[in-house]
Amino acid sequence: MLNQYSLKLPKAVYSGDGALNLITSILEGEKGKKTAVFTDQGIEKAGLLKEPLELIKASGKEYILLNEIPPEPTCDEAQKVIDLFKASGAEFIIAIGGGSVMDIAKLASVSATDRYGVRELLDNPGLAEKCVNTLMIPTTAGTGAEATPNSIVAVPEKQLKVGIVNAAMIADHVILDGNMIKKLPIHIAASTGVDALAHAIECFTSKKANLFSDTFALAALDLIINNIQASCHNPDDMQAKNAMLTGAFYGGVAITASGTTAVHALSYPLGGKYHIPHGTANAMLLAPVMRFNEPACRERLAQAYDRVAREHETAASSEEKSRWIINKLEEIVENLGIPSSLKDYGVKPDDLDELVLAGMGVQRLLVNNMREVSPQDAREIYQGLL
Ligand SMILES: NC(=O)c1ccc[n+]([C@@H]2O[C@H](COP(=O)([O-])OP(=O)(O)OC[C@H]3O[C@@H](n4cnc5c(N)ncnc54)[C@H](O)[C@@H]3O)[C@@H](O)[C@H]2O)c1
Ligand SMILES: [Zn+2]
Repeated sequence: MLNQYSLKLPKAVYSGDGALNLITSILEGEKGKKTAVFTDQGIEKAGLLKEPLELIKASGKEYILLNEIPPEPTCDEAQKVIDLFKASGAEFIIAIGGGSVMDIAKLASVSATDRYGVRELLDNPGLAEKCVNTLMIPTTAGTGAEATPNSIVAVPEKQLKVGIVNAAMIADHVILDGNMIKKLPIHIAASTGVDALAHAIECFTSKKANLFSDTFALAALDLIINNIQASCHNPDDMQAKNAMLTGAFYGGVAITASGTTAVHALSYPLGGKYHIPHGTANAMLLAPVMRFNEPACRERLAQAYDRVAREHETAASSEEKSRWIINKLEEIVENLGIPSSLKDYGVKPDDLDELVLAGMGVQRLLVNNMREVSPQDAREIYQGLL
């Protein structure tokens, strides 16, 4: 039988130190007089806008700054920013930020229309049609949102985060410049980096994994496992930082071609109800879920070992290799000091029933998990984090 795979990608990706300078020529090649710059207060305070705004000015285009995007936005917060964008008449979008900023910019790129809003897209993502072109400049390494057709928003009444997926939202241009993550505070670098790590290992062990996604998932895993600690701990290690940005981008491509699994599924209610940042929630769940999955994906984990382990490692059997990978995931999360207990976020044992119900509701991702997750399994996994 001939299997069919599909891979949808941004039209152009520019990577490496100084890639930011391409903003001017990218803008010169785009239509319209006005550009909307999507960003947030944290990016502005970190001084990350100065250079991009100068480069926009150099192109002769006007811009409007939309800098009020909150972290992990709700669908209604997203709509507010999109309304400002629509009123501005801008014909091109530049997103400078992490996943929160890029996701709203992606939604805006299909929303310069009165035919639907964000809530209608939640019910029917198929409505989305491209309205304006986009340039994504990630400042975390990270979500890989610059590569994916996904936009994730919190839906308060469901106490969940929900993904809107439509290929119309894939970026046109992407700039991966290590200078944008150079001064990332370590706690953000750590949790967003482990999010990228989770994308790689989940997509490689997903039921949806295929030749295309494996190529990107394994390359992402190799880059991330072997650079995350240096990138987080050493502000001047530009090689490690650029490697992380590339790894996170590859992780996004792997999501597009495959899909994440139970780590992301069980983390959605932690973000939606307890407002635990996306990367932190995934970091808490990563090793426990992969340990649960191990019997069903031992050979895959052994293959991952063969790709990422360096010469001095001595694991020989599949069992040893898969154990090495899971221990490595756990060691990275521990060494980066990411919070590991749900108690720190106010989750109580009495909350478990609701948490299990909400987590089991994310069937869109649970169906990708190689080992079936029962409500009792989900309960035990959450319980282990209390
Ligand atoms: N679309 C996708 O494919 C996809 C995939 C995974 C996650 N997500 C979503 O992305 C969001 C999380 O994105 P994130 O993890 O990148 O974090 P984020 O965008 O929420 O940013 C977290 C914080 O870090 C700050 N920050 C970001 N970059 C900085 C820098 N270089 N220097 C200083 N401060 C900086 C921001 O101001 C913000 O306060 C969640 O909503 C999540 O659900 C989307
Ligand atoms: Zn993620």
